[in-house]
Amino acid sequence: MERIYADHAATTPLCDESRQAMEPWLAGGFGNPSSLHAEGREAKDALDEARAALSSALRCEFGEVVFTSGGTEAANLAIIGTALANPDPRRNRILFSAAEHHAVLHTEPILERLGYRVEMVQTDQWSRPDLDHLSDLLGDDVLVVSAMHANNETGAVTADLQRLSSSVARVGALWHCDAVQTFGHLPLDEALQADLLTVSAHKLDGPKGTGALRVKAGTRVAPLIRGGGQEREMRGGTENVGGIVGFAAALGARRGDVLGIADAFRSEASRLVPDLVWTLPERIQRLPGHTHFRIPRVSAESLLIVLDRLGVSASAGAACSSGAIEPSHVLLACGWSDEEAGEGVRFSFGSSNSERDAVEAASRLAEAVATIRRRRS
Ligand SMILES: Cc1ncc(COP(=O)(O)O)c(C=O)c1O
Repeated sequence: MERIYADHAATTPLCDESRQAMEPWLAGGFGNPSSLHAEGREAKDALDEARAALSSALRCEFGEVVFTSGGTEAANLAIIGTALANPDPRRNRILFSAAEHHAVLHTEPILERLGYRVEMVQTDQWSRPDLDHLSDLLGDDVLVVSAMHANNETGAVTADLQRLSSSVARVGALWHCDAVQTFGHLPLDEALQADLLTVSAHKLDGPKGTGALRVKAGTRVAPLIRGGGQEREMRGGTENVGGIVGFAAALGARRGDVLGIADAFRSEASRLVPDLVWTLPERIQRLPGHTHFRIPRVSAESLLIVLDRLGVSASAGAACSSGAIEPSHVLLACGWSDEEAGEGVRFSFGSSNSERDAVEAASRLAEAVATIRRRRS
């Protein structure tokens, strides 16, 4: 049985373009971009070329791109780095949308130790920040607001970023936008107005362990990793040249019609499992390859185990810790009960899938549901 990988929101297989671009840096090219000799200059040129590609995709200046070890480090740098660089007791509040990724939310204990108060912006039932609640919380004592471009669990794209951006700017606060799920998949449009923008390579068919933070000129960010002053003093450490080159190559890679593939899955799954409940209604803008749903009284945990046995890799909208699936904070923020949150499942399609995969995945989903229900009766 051929396996179907439907977990591209977690990570993607490396595309040929990335692999080919990285190969010379795994076999042969090894220079340190900070060295002055020929090997170093060759690495520096490759790094410059990749930075130029990233800055063009992020429509920013060359020097505004700071390479990191991924989206988690970029988000940490954006938030903790801003907190460290702007100590001012009159600006000691930080706002997070409640459905942010843990890369954002789990910075809270450090921020509190630094003297900041972290407050949560409520979301609507589809995980998008509630902009009225944001306005209520905003004041001239807020330093930074973290509100993502699209949610990694539900797939919902945040609406009205223009309003969000101007209300944050009006009180003199900074906006950090986590665009890990949208970069390379959707135009960033108004997300580009963010002062700090996080992206990651492995969600767009690039390598793991490589990401970037776009830091708008004039925004003060202190490094979290100190060393040789690389990345304009914002991130010490010899750059991961191969990974960064692979990131830039992934940007230019060809991508198929994942929207059509996700649509094919949606219609076939609805036909075969009529009580399946889709999380997002049609009118809510979503990530193109993303689908999220629950099946009443079928736990995500058992569904994923049976699906895996049937050769389908999907995921729960939940974090796995100490072997147990905890109810997802995103779905709880959307107002789901613990039981409903335990039923949330994500199928995310990408470049490695075809429409045939989507139809087959729906049929294996129906088989998995029938197996679980048979066991129970
Ligand atoms: C929305 C979002 N932010 C941040 C991250 C973290 O990125 P990385 O895996 O590159 O550290 C992820 C990855 O799952 C994500 O989906």
